[in-house]
Amino acid sequence: MLEQPTKPLTGPIETMRDDLSAERRAQVSYPPGETSFSMKRTNGFMTEPLELLLDAYERFGPIFTMRVFHHNVVFMLGPEANHFMLVSNADKFNWRDGHMRDLIPLLGDGLLTTDGTYHRIHRKMMLPTFHSERIRAATATMEDEIGKAVDRLEPDQTFDLYEWTKMVALRVAMRALFGLDPDRAQGDDLDAAHEFETALSFHAHSVPGQLARGPGTAYSRLLKARKRLDSLIYSEIDRRRQSGQRGDDILSLLLDTRDEDGDPLASEQIRNEMMTLLFAGHDTTASTITFLFYELALTPEVLDAPGVTVEMLREEVLRKYPPAWVGPRRTNQQFEFGDHVVPAGAHCQYSSWVSHHLPDVWDDPARFDPYRFTVEGMAGLRKGQYVPFGGGSRTCIGMRFGEAEIAIFIRRILARFRFELDPAYELVIRTAPTISPRKGMPMTVRSAEPAAVLANAERPEAAPARV
Ligand code: HEM
Repeated sequence: MLEQPTKPLTGPIETMRDDLSAERRAQVSYPPGETSFSMKRTNGFMTEPLELLLDAYERFGPIFTMRVFHHNVVFMLGPEANHFMLVSNADKFNWRDGHMRDLIPLLGDGLLTTDGTYHRIHRKMMLPTFHSERIRAATATMEDEIGKAVDRLEPDQTFDLYEWTKMVALRVAMRALFGLDPDRAQGDDLDAAHEFETALSFHAHSVPGQLARGPGTAYSRLLKARKRLDSLIYSEIDRRRQSGQRGDDILSLLLDTRDEDGDPLASEQIRNEMMTLLFAGHDTTASTITFLFYELALTPEVLDAPGVTVEMLREEVLRKYPPAWVGPRRTNQQFEFGDHVVPAGAHCQYSSWVSHHLPDVWDDPARFDPYRFTVEGMAGLRKGQYVPFGGGSRTCIGMRFGEAEIAIFIRRILARFRFELDPAYELVIRTAPTISPRKGMPMTVRSAEPAAVLANAERPEAAPARV
């Protein structure tokens, strides 16, 4: 019988006590950094972590400690640190006790929130759901949904690109993951988007806002949203079990998956994995598309640049704005990295976003430049340099799904339109739990001939060197 994941600490007092006692128990000091309490730094971390962490990198190097609210967090940045945390020494880190433990109340014990043997066995069970024939079936759904949504855009209309893309990505997820027809389901089922937003908005609150409990708090809204999402997911699981109805969707596969003992998965396990996929898979794509068209509105000439392909645009936007920007972990043993020792029980994070902006690793990192991802450019990437999908045993399981969806959005939009940005718009990035534009993205639709970039042959399939 597989050992179940440990009971998570969810109460804020319990969690803070645990963090502080781990610090007291540390056998060695934390790597140098900024270790005094500072509310200014804590707020800075919530609102502008890129600037804050780049500045610390310049002063302390690829590993340093930063006190965020009540506790120390060790940051490990850059290619070597990414490779160390994700591949060569991944066994020294746990996901479940790290910062994103706050997602456990919503996601339950799914792929994202578990470690060790439980994670490995579940990952093995989930992998077939993302095999290439599944991605092909999902691609047909994407073409259909994205194609129809683009066809409904009116020339000269102004719309919020982020909201639009999220809605379309959610429709794709509803069909490809759950096999639900968003048009027939309407009402309750499509409100899932709203419920999900409500649940996730918990993470965008300030630290004190997240700590509050009781009626009217962000946490109680999260619980209510979870209840409604649960009833949607469980009723679909029950309906399918009773009717025996199956399709190309991922839920169908999970209903017929057998565990190591040959038993079907419990409804709760299926619910947890489906909730995880819904969480991990719709906002990530939506913000990638939104940031890409933001960049293209600022530098439209990129679309006519010789040799630039759709894949190069996608890779570069995932460099500059990797939606899953941070990878929080907890160390389960003491270790050395470079000249420093990190104690057991420490919060420790890698960050794709910061690693993709290091001035000593990337040439002019603030510049949007798809030429970084020519075949030669990719061959020159160092191990761990480019990690938008993480790496090692926890590499994004939905990577091919996400990549296909992003490419289809780009092709469908650029075949007919360009988007113009309101010149007064100022981008503010919301960082929790993934990066997205805090104020949405107001764009005006303009009719256009197919962009030159669409005529350029796809770059030969060569997944960027990741880790
Ligand atoms: C632009 C699109 C996407 C990006 C940039 C992205 C990024 C990531 C990253 C960085 C991780 C690893 C996090 C860590 O190391 O802590 C991850 C994990 C994961 N992603 Fe994605 N993701 C995307 C799309 C998707 C999609 C479409 C799905 C599912 C339909 C998905 C499902 C997952 C799951 C289940 C995990 C956990 C894997 C594990 O721990 O074994 N993602 N993703």
